[in-house]
Amino acid sequence: MNQTPSACEALSRFFGREAPSGAYLDGAPRATSGPGNPVEDPATTRILTEVAEASAGDVADAVASARRAFETSWRDKRGSSRATILFAIAAAIRAEAEQLAILETFDTGKPLRQSRADIATSARFFEFYAGVADKIYGETIPGERNFWAYTLREPYGVVAHITPWNSPLSLMCRGVAPCLAAGNTVVVKPSEIAPLSTLAVAALFSKAGLPAGVCNMVAGRGPTTGALLVRHPDVAHITFTGSVATGKAILTMAAERVVGCNLELGGKSPTIVMPDADFDVAVQAGAMAVVRNSGQSCTATTRLLVHESIAERYGAEVARAVSGLSVGPGIDDKDLGPLASRVQYEKVRAAIASGVADGATLMVGGVRPDDLDGHFLTPAVLTGVRNDMRIAREEIFGPVQSVISFADEDEAVALANDSTYGLSAGVFTNNIATAHRLARRLQAGQVQINQYPMGGVETPTGGYKESGLGRERGLAALEYYTQLKAVLVAEAPPARRRRPDDRSAPA
Ligand code: NAI
Ligand code: MG
Repeated sequence: MNQTPSACEALSRFFGREAPSGAYLDGAPRATSGPGNPVEDPATTRILTEVAEASAGDVADAVASARRAFETSWRDKRGSSRATILFAIAAAIRAEAEQLAILETFDTGKPLRQSRADIATSARFFEFYAGVADKIYGETIPGERNFWAYTLREPYGVVAHITPWNSPLSLMCRGVAPCLAAGNTVVVKPSEIAPLSTLAVAALFSKAGLPAGVCNMVAGRGPTTGALLVRHPDVAHITFTGSVATGKAILTMAAERVVGCNLELGGKSPTIVMPDADFDVAVQAGAMAVVRNSGQSCTATTRLLVHESIAERYGAEVARAVSGLSVGPGIDDKDLGPLASRVQYEKVRAAIASGVADGATLMVGGVRPDDLDGHFLTPAVLTGVRNDMRIAREEIFGPVQSVISFADEDEAVALANDSTYGLSAGVFTNNIATAHRLARRLQAGQVQINQYPMGGVETPTGGYKESGLGRERGLAALEYYTQLKAVLVAEAPPARRRRPDDRSAPA
């Protein structure tokens, strides 16, 4: 018998019959007493459960617990011992993958197969960084005179992780896995819009052997629980993924204490389609960019810059490619699920309306299917978009694609780089020299050629310009989860120096 999985089942698997506790600290759930934040299923607008917010006291206890764990166990553990535990965490995530995917789908709305891929990626992050936990070291530096020097890569201490709602578990693991591998301990604050998978894995981490206090979780809204965590004097570093506005607010708070930040703040990523590109492959990439997680992805390429000789045909084909797609509850595994919240739904509708008001042509989509009550929108394609329209400047974070035409390569580069963002970019061309030249000319932390999206846990990602600071994924991330110490050693004991007034004394 083929039964649709239920939210209740997934919830009770991880949290029993109670509402999830608003904090997990020192290796155990803790009931919090702050106001309850409703957790909605965006496919039905039904409230799945409520999570009570962590208070100032809970946040202080979580940070104190992480600090204790840092000083008494985790920092001084051998890299190989940390690796063993991180591998066990990956295995624990894989063992619960299906239920975690179901929970993620009910909480965020994303189609089940995309949640399954996210959970697999979450495990991969722990496997990848488990593999490097015993290979984090500095270098030796030859001194010019009478010393030699070496560097050490040391953890910061307690690192705060503030995570978003679009891919909650995989983005949390993306930051936490390298952070723990390097010897830091963490306090995570998941988004109030989709906190469930993060709260669910806390206990799995403990069961896998992670010592108490090494990874604590606190639930709550950003300006309350989030700000308390960011401002806590014992938080030594901050990792944040979310909007530019919140990133700037966090950077400002961090500046007060001179604390570093890894910021991943989204994008308005361009795709350049040259006239010699493989047309069908480029059409597919343009369509899929807004289909994956309904376009709620920081690297979604939502400015399709297309050579004027093919722009009209290209726009029409992308519109055709998205118009046949199915829209429905993520748990039914349609092509597109709902947007993650009502706020997001309204924001996306307003963006489409502004594009039309500014003179773009809505070729298809942008409506809620009659038979669905959740925050659903059919994928929209707008053509005749100009790069100065609001729709081309602001991150929409929804299933909305814009087609902009260009006359030559220089104009394509100028349009691509004319953005406050610089997270990612796509290039479609069959000329290898053009591909490499464009890769160099584009202001983006990542450039993908002839397929989009590509890459996994191994490939560094991060922003140029307002898209962020630091890098996540790959070995590069370790640089941002460690601080460098230089140690200088005299080569020989210093020759006894004469004092100035000894100068006249006989040798
Ligand atoms: P947001 O940036 O406000 O929220 C992200 C996280 O930051 C959440 O955990 C939130 O509770 C926390 N937060 C908010 N204010 C805070 C504060 N003052 N101090 C500490 N933590 C704080 O994102 P929001 O409002 O949910 O989404 C708005 C827009 O942001 C989206 O439409 C999208 O354009 C962008 N976004 C980008 C993401 C990315 O992956 N780069 C992810 C989520 C949103
Ligand atoms: Mg939700």
